[in-house]
Amino acid sequence: MDFDILFEKFSQLVLESQSFAELQNVKAQILGKNGEITDLLKSISSLSIEEKKTFGASVNILKNKVEDIVQKRAEHFKDEETRLKLETERLDISLPLTPLSIGKIHPITRLMMEIENFFKPQGFTFVDGQELEDEWHNFDALNIPHHHPARQDHDTFYVKGSLKSESNQRHVLRTHTSNTQIRYLKDHKPPLRMISHGKVYRSDAIDATHTPMFHQMECLVIEPKISFAHLKHTIQTFLEYIFGSTNIPIRFRPSYFPFTEPSAEVDVRCISKNNQLIFSNEGNWMEILGCGMVHPNVIKNCNLDPNQYQGFAFGVGLERLAMLKYGITDIRQFYNNHPDWINHFGSNPLCI
Ligand code: DAH
Repeated sequence: MDFDILFEKFSQLVLESQSFAELQNVKAQILGKNGEITDLLKSISSLSIEEKKTFGASVNILKNKVEDIVQKRAEHFKDEETRLKLETERLDISLPLTPLSIGKIHPITRLMMEIENFFKPQGFTFVDGQELEDEWHNFDALNIPHHHPARQDHDTFYVKGSLKSESNQRHVLRTHTSNTQIRYLKDHKPPLRMISHGKVYRSDAIDATHTPMFHQMECLVIEPKISFAHLKHTIQTFLEYIFGSTNIPIRFRPSYFPFTEPSAEVDVRCISKNNQLIFSNEGNWMEILGCGMVHPNVIKNCNLDPNQYQGFAFGVGLERLAMLKYGITDIRQFYNNHPDWINHFGSNPLCI
């Protein structure tokens, strides 16, 4: 038997296989249970001792050589598979990125963040107020009498239905953030410094300067020896911080609020240029906030002794501040959710 010719024949079969599956078939034909080499091995037992030695050795050499090339061919298919995989699953890192749309921070939210940055380091506590309020917290406790125009139906949204209330009164959508003064004072013993900001509601007209919902911020400080001078300093430095300028023409004008005595309104002076408001000593005075020393009746209504405690408070509309700061001329734009508007007036979240 010519083992070289046999090897030639088997290696040709192996090399002609075109896939791993085909190779498995060829391998079974040669080395499987009824394979040709297996048959040769089986035939050894019927040979004489002499023949067994030479024939047996040659069959085993042939078997090892064939197993070797089968293994090599299998490795070839495996490499080919990996190569194909790499080729088809390759990432093209030269492709340009789809532009990232990260959105902008709304000017009112931005203002709230700046308010926190200014007041928190000064020891103020930020509290969430409630928008659904009873008449007592929104009006009575703040010394606002029943005949006050703000209580009339055309200014206040009265809410139907019987919600649970400590004072068993009608409910309203709060008309200002001053309700938080009462809720905080009732629950906390002075000395205290509090800020609250959020939505307020008034049954107003809708035009360039009015909307039925807007935002306010409330400040309350009750501490021994607090005076009007502290109030003036706080407001002055607050406005300088918000507008990023120490040259704001500002004045305190005597006014009236039921919950403060004395009361004042703060005006800033500005002119309109190219549809924008700019601080200027030649401009008109514009009212931006209300303030005063907390009225003794408010302190009394919160079960504290007005002879022992005094403090100051102020409240400010956030839209009014934002309109001045960013040169926005129509309050309705804050709520239109117009992407171009937000892109223009909003702030990049990665830059603040
Ligand atoms: N609550 C007032 C308003 O809505 C604003 C205000 C004025 C708040 C004087 C105060 C204050 O705390 O002291 O118009």
